[in-house]
Amino acid sequence: MTRLGILISGRGSNLLAIADAIADGTLPDAEIAVVLSNKAEAAGVARARERGFPTHVIESKGRIRAEHDADMVARLREYKVDLVCLAGYMRVVTPIFVDAFPQRLLNMHPSLLPAFPGLHPQQQALDYGVRVAGTTVHFVDEELDHGVIIVQRSVPVLDGDDAQTLAARILEEEHTAYSEAIARVLSGKYEIRGRCYVPRDSATK
Ligand code: GAR
Repeated sequence: MTRLGILISGRGSNLLAIADAIADGTLPDAEIAVVLSNKAEAAGVARARERGFPTHVIESKGRIRAEHDADMVARLREYKVDLVCLAGYMRVVTPIFVDAFPQRLLNMHPSLLPAFPGLHPQQQALDYGVRVAGTTVHFVDEELDHGVIIVQRSVPVLDGDDAQTLAARILEEEHTAYSEAIARVLSGKYEIRGRCYVPRDSATK
């Protein structure tokens, strides 16, 4: 059984989607070992506790990034976490984090990377005028929103969209994309070539 650590900063709908996928068997052989938030007021904290997941707040406000990350890593180790999923975790992680979980740290970003990394990607997409937007689940590396891509899903940008309507359309895809990405990683049936995720079946061809 793979022990997941889910990191949140906000509403936590992707956390719940992952929990549902585990509960209904879509994501087998995984369990949520712990939920960590860097914000006490995150709505996802209450939602995680309601579901009965061990949940801790490690407040990041005013703290040195590396020290906060070290505390997060220590907590994840305490819960013997195998795979860490950033799910709306709105904080750049330091190498301390990346080195602690090599190829075991995933992030979701609501754009089709490498387009629109950083803050407000849905607004960035609208301002650029793209007609297709989406979401990316990727391994985390030292650069922001940059690591090897595991799953991407696209959605159309519709006339009249604003950042909220576009974000809602993307979010619907995110709720299944994250479980798919976790399942892919847990299957172990892949290799990393350069910066590409290559499924094992195609890798052996
Ligand atoms: C999701 O759209 C996720 O892609 C985004 O925050 C939202 C979290 O929603 N993540 C980022 O922007 C990370 N840079 P949730 O709290 O309801 O899961």
